[in-house]
Amino acid sequence: MGENAPEEVPTDYPDSKSPSLHLTTATEEEKVATWNLNSVNWGTALSLSDYLERESYLTTVPLAKDNGVTHWILVSKDLPHNERPILASCESLCKPVLVSRNGIITEGITHGIGSVFSQPKYRGKGYAARMLRELGRILKSWQIDSSVSGREAVPFSILYSDIGPKYYAKFGWEVHPSSHIALPPISSKSSSSSSSSNSGTPLTYADIPSLCKLDEHLLRKRLAETKDGKTHVAILPTNDQMQWHHMREDFVTKKIFGKSPTIKGAIAGPEGKRVWAIWTRAFYGPLKPESGNTFHILRLVLEDETDNEQNAESLKSILDIAQEEAKEWQLNEVEMWNPSEVVRSLVRRTELEHKVEHREEESIPSLMWYGDEETKAGDIWWVANEKYGWC
Ligand SMILES: CC(C)(COP(=O)(O)OP(=O)(O)OC[C@H]1O[C@@H](n2cnc3c(N)ncnc32)[C@H](O)[C@@H]1OP(=O)(O)O)[C@@H](O)C(=O)NCCC(=O)NCCS
Repeated sequence: MGENAPEEVPTDYPDSKSPSLHLTTATEEEKVATWNLNSVNWGTALSLSDYLERESYLTTVPLAKDNGVTHWILVSKDLPHNERPILASCESLCKPVLVSRNGIITEGITHGIGSVFSQPKYRGKGYAARMLRELGRILKSWQIDSSVSGREAVPFSILYSDIGPKYYAKFGWEVHPSSHIALPPISSKSSSSSSSSNSGTPLTYADIPSLCKLDEHLLRKRLAETKDGKTHVAILPTNDQMQWHHMREDFVTKKIFGKSPTIKGAIAGPEGKRVWAIWTRAFYGPLKPESGNTFHILRLVLEDETDNEQNAESLKSILDIAQEEAKEWQLNEVEMWNPSEVVRSLVRRTELEHKVEHREEESIPSLMWYGDEETKAGDIWWVANEKYGWC
């Protein structure tokens, strides 16, 4: 802009602290307007029309449907619907959670915030900050229903920052661990792994509900055993939670490849000592390495959490399938988020090529606590902090 350029018209750029602004829910037309605007950031794996179709479709899938997802916009109170400039926008997705302290478990819901966005002309003016401050407060009681078991409280809200650890922490979403194990996509047909005596079995849609039930049972048992005075929180790894990822995956792969993958995970090992993974394929851009398209392990479960040869062999046979699928679907790498010490050791035992990475910029799990005031950020232990909770 030249030195003598006129000032911006003030009505277009209200003060971000103005009482005339508020955070509210978007109309159908306004949802489409926000998707059109943010397609530049999140729609580049698809054509614009396919991205708009995907976003609309994703309001109808498990977790999101029946008002599970809320589309938020920061706008002027005084302007009519569908004509008010959208200064900032985001979504929140409701999910069931567990909180445990010294073995006492309570249930609740959380809201996972995603798609935080402000169009370029409105950036740097504090609108996104205003939206997030209001949102942090609103979500504390959003969609609470004291007459429905498990929906009586929102103990915390979450988000996964793609813009480093500082921005959201300013508003109270504290950063949690963000490491992962990355393995290359490899065809097992060309590796020695096919000689493993403990071969993995692929999982399809039909296998997942009962495994999620068992996972929840094991997780509750584990949380009931905590005695360290810390607050342990977990997003429930439900079938709906997995389906939210899988239906997105199916939609996107159908558009890109004309078909969708039926293998949604793999399982290995004898009853009582089984190891399984549920996974998804995520496309962030065209089929090129720079897009960072990734094969994500949504959830890894060890029935018996022991660091031994049998578990290592089971894990290896599962990862063989994952790596082969990653190759087939042209993904850069297989990622497994926040592996426990036991899982890290098991991966080392497999002798598969891998690296441990600490994400400094992208997908940093962040949590705002709404529960009792004695609990400080450092007292909260996010259990099963894996990709399935991402939104
Ligand atoms: C992230 C985004 C919503 C911020 O909007 P904004 O209008 O610039 O934010 P605000 O005016 O409220 O806040 C400005 C502050 O945010 C910081 N900020 C903005 N974008 C940032 C980024 N990509 N990385 C780190 N900090 C960022 C600025 O440095 C500034 O910091 P300061 O207050 O210390 O000076 C906007 O840049 C955007 O839509 N980006 C594209 C989509 C995206 O990446 N969303 C985040 C997904 S997790």
